[in-house]
Amino acid sequence: MGRPARSARVAEPLFPIGRVVKKAERNEHQLKKTEPGTEWWRRSQDRLSLSFVPDKVLGRESEALQLKDTLEGILKADRGGAVYVSGLPGTGKTLTVKNALREVGYRSIWVNCASQGEPRAIYGTLCDRIKGSTTSESTEANLIATLSKKGKKTILVLDELDFLITRDLSLLYAVFELPKKCSEAIVLGIANSVDLPERLLPWLRACQSVPVVFPFRPYTSDAMEKIILQRIEKDVMDLPAIKLCAKKTAAVNGDVRLALDVCRAAIDSVKNKPSRPKTFIAEIVRIFESRGSVSGVRRIMENLPIQQQVMLCSFVRKLSDQKRKEATLGSVYDEYQPMSLRAGTSSLTFGEFSNICNSSLSQTGLVEVAEAKLVKRNPAGRSPRRQSSLTSPRTKLLRLCVAEADVRECFQARRLLRDLLPSA
Ligand SMILES: Nc1ncnc2c1ncn2[C@@H]1O[C@H](COP(=O)(O)OP(=O)(O)OP(=O)(O)O)[C@@H](O)[C@H]1O
Ligand SMILES: [Mg+2]
Repeated sequence: MGRPARSARVAEPLFPIGRVVKKAERNEHQLKKTEPGTEWWRRSQDRLSLSFVPDKVLGRESEALQLKDTLEGILKADRGGAVYVSGLPGTGKTLTVKNALREVGYRSIWVNCASQGEPRAIYGTLCDRIKGSTTSESTEANLIATLSKKGKKTILVLDELDFLITRDLSLLYAVFELPKKCSEAIVLGIANSVDLPERLLPWLRACQSVPVVFPFRPYTSDAMEKIILQRIEKDVMDLPAIKLCAKKTAAVNGDVRLALDVCRAAIDSVKNKPSRPKTFIAEIVRIFESRGSVSGVRRIMENLPIQQQVMLCSFVRKLSDQKRKEATLGSVYDEYQPMSLRAGTSSLTFGEFSNICNSSLSQTGLVEVAEAKLVKRNPAGRSPRRQSSLTSPRTKLLRLCVAEADVRECFQARRLLRDLLPSA
């Protein structure tokens, strides 16, 4: 069968194509219905798919560089080492680590912990992968012996590390302690649980085997926009619609998969229409609405540990008597203390509270901690004087990055938390 004549025209302006050129001259947004196969949307749809591997990891340049430097440093040292990459889903952890490893150019063993039948099987899987066999005994001693026998360093990448979480975290402690027991081991864990470092670090610090931690914050809307533009063929979707998609995704959860999925669905929804819309804004809005755009933020809030949910409720309570969306860490902590007692959760010290705000809560994108910048009147009461050198952690500003209404709505359904919220 001969090649369809339209194939030769694929390289022409993206739309319209083929035999509709004349029509195109009248209206460049016209698309002929009967042109399956070479349509304007097809190439972008392929690039928007999750299997597409971008040649550049946009928005994670510094993380990739630091990861590479850290790994190279560990490879040169005479001891093993551990690295911990954490962040919410779709924040480019796997992609960035793969990229950094390619740059390092050193052989690594990559295991997805989600595919282990049970957590402790990880030892056997790692031994098998190192030896190229399939029958290794799944014990820590066997893994150490296998690594030592190899006589050179091995980078063990444990993706989806969350699947190794046991009730007492003992397996995770053991995994991150490996480099201390065996200088050939370099452990690189990748996880979603944003509060895992806080749960692990005190113990690992006590054992002097602290991993280098790389927290991946959710993408900003600017980064998200660049990532979408990297995949969408020029002129397929208008820039305002792409910006809107990037902004909405960044506000929901910063998950690239959501942004790519919405763009794909938007293009899908018009591809068979007689004419392509001048702007995809309506499609983007409709698709976000149909998927319940608050659900991402909601899911994050619902999945927080109870301690952090109480912290958020206290924060919203603190904000309810003021117009601004920020308050000092100290004042939120003062609000939190009686709340934690009411909720029956163990009370955090100010240091712990501040640590959680700075790390896991910030990583979710729900809040942000900023240096305090107070504007005070000088004694004469005329020109304002800026004070920026306030160093006390209590004076740092905690900023709410989601709508107060979303927090209230999410926790209204939980009796324990509802009682902590301010009355609407
Ligand atoms: N910076 C980026 N540039 C281009 N594509 C990206 C970028 N970040 C993520 N992606 C794409 O988004 C998808 C998800 O990325 P990735 O798998 O790295 O996320 P993750 O943080 O590991 O998520 P999870 O926690 O669910 O495993 C992939 O298809 C990836 O190609
Ligand atoms: Mg991943």
